[in-house]
Amino acid sequence: MTPDDMKRQSALKAIELVESGMRLGLGTGSTARHFVDLVGAKVKAGLDVICVPTSIATRIQAESLGIRLTTLDETPELDLTVDGADELDDHLQLIKGGGGALLREKIVAMASDRMVVIADLSKRVPRLGAFALPVEVVRFGWRSTEDWVHSCIEEAGCSGPVTLRSGPSGEPFITDNGNYILDCALGRIDDADMLHDLLKSVPGVVETGLFLGIADTAFVADENGVVTLSAPINAA
Ligand code: 5RP
Repeated sequence: MTPDDMKRQSALKAIELVESGMRLGLGTGSTARHFVDLVGAKVKAGLDVICVPTSIATRIQAESLGIRLTTLDETPELDLTVDGADELDDHLQLIKGGGGALLREKIVAMASDRMVVIADLSKRVPRLGAFALPVEVVRFGWRSTEDWVHSCIEEAGCSGPVTLRSGPSGEPFITDNGNYILDCALGRIDDADMLHDLLKSVPGVVETGLFLGIADTAFVADENGVVTLSAPINAA
């Protein structure tokens, strides 16, 4: 089974949660893409759902599949968001933002009664941090913000290079919200709450890719099937 087959298996598990009448958040990335395809197929077969995409890319995909879309301004509360992750640990703490959509992904997930993560086994880690933590920052004064990000990293007991994310032709990557992303290659994050809180106290930081206490369930696929992980009761 290829990693892509596993992504589809986890998406197939998540689609079982979807019922007519639901308001859904649609995640971003190659795993979420499978879920959106499955929603599209069900819509063609008569499923009645209304969805909020977490990125322009997902909006374009959903529109092409005939999925009825709304915004959080029109529909501020959602029933379920299904999204991928770059890393998840046993407590369902996540790193997200590899695709650059972390801000909208977090806003949409927080507007939802439930966030369910879909992933292949490669995303499951004993401790967060091997994947560089994306931090979305406003463009104005980003170099000063970067200095503050370094200070926060140190104060949280972490270390590692911070890099301005580049697009395909080497220019800075711009998020759907017009911001930059600083990728923080920390290796390990021992106190994710502390790091997140410190980073959020910096004025130029818009959001971090740490999703803490947000997801309640994860479907993680491997060669043998799909494992269901649940967040500790008081964490979600
Ligand atoms: C995008 C994300 C994605 O969910 C994350 O990068 C996982 O992507 P993929 O499913 O392609 O591995 O956070 O901002």
